[in-house]
Amino acid sequence: MGNQGGAGAGAPARWRGTVADVELDGIDPRRVPVHIGCVMDGNGRWARKRGLPRTEGHGAGEEALFDAVEGALDLGTRWLTVYAFSTENWKRPVDEVRYLMKFNESLLLRRRDELNERGVRIRFAGRRDWRVPRRLLRRMDEALDLTAHNRTMTLTIAFNYGGRAEIVDAVRRLVADGVPADKVDEKAIRSRMYLPDMPDPDLVIRTSGEFRISNFLLWELAYSELVFTDVLWPDFRRANLFEAVREYQRRDRRYGGLDV
Ligand code: FPP
Repeated sequence: MGNQGGAGAGAPARWRGTVADVELDGIDPRRVPVHIGCVMDGNGRWARKRGLPRTEGHGAGEEALFDAVEGALDLGTRWLTVYAFSTENWKRPVDEVRYLMKFNESLLLRRRDELNERGVRIRFAGRRDWRVPRRLLRRMDEALDLTAHNRTMTLTIAFNYGGRAEIVDAVRRLVADGVPADKVDEKAIRSRMYLPDMPDPDLVIRTSGEFRISNFLLWELAYSELVFTDVLWPDFRRANLFEAVREYQRRDRRYGGLDV
């Protein structure tokens, strides 16, 4: 069956005769992952190595995030999902949590126009519970509305997101909808996930040398290719993204079947 996915019919124009052309060397434009997920890990360690507070590491992660977005656009990837705050991250020190709420709020405000101009649709996956500050929820809604019509790429920010929480929420909806046990199947569950129209990730990248999923997209990554890199998130750049895609294209995706 071999490696699947693909940026769609033909390579995007920017594959030909641009600077990105050189960096994209060795990547087959017909087998670019349609959906890439990123666990942006290692900000704290990056800061500690420099004698800086952990929060400085998150700040430095912003450049990495936007270079990854540019790289995904260069590739012609249609969906990029980044793990920005997990349902477990509330256990971090209160000052760090407060910083992250403010940081995400200001990041949306500062970057939404630029993303909009690049044709990026911004969406969110996660729980909108009482712990998320209202000002941040407002910024999230504004970013959603501003970019709702864009289709070049969808950037999903997993915020107050947990894979188990998403499955629990889907089961709650099944029960609330009165679905009888014999009608519960994968389609019934999938249609009640946070973003039912989002394709499963083809490739999930985790930075910082940890070999864990940490509750990211548990249902959706059943057949994703996983790539782990030692690079700490603030040092991650589009070249690292392209390297992960090359690794992905060397993999043999079988989905439980056999090679033909
Ligand atoms: C999972 O590891 C990693 C995350 C949930 C990403 C966290 C990222 C940030 C807080 C910074 C976001 C940065 C930007 C630029 C928006 P974990 O540490 O939750 O799980 P673990 O304890 O298993 O390692």
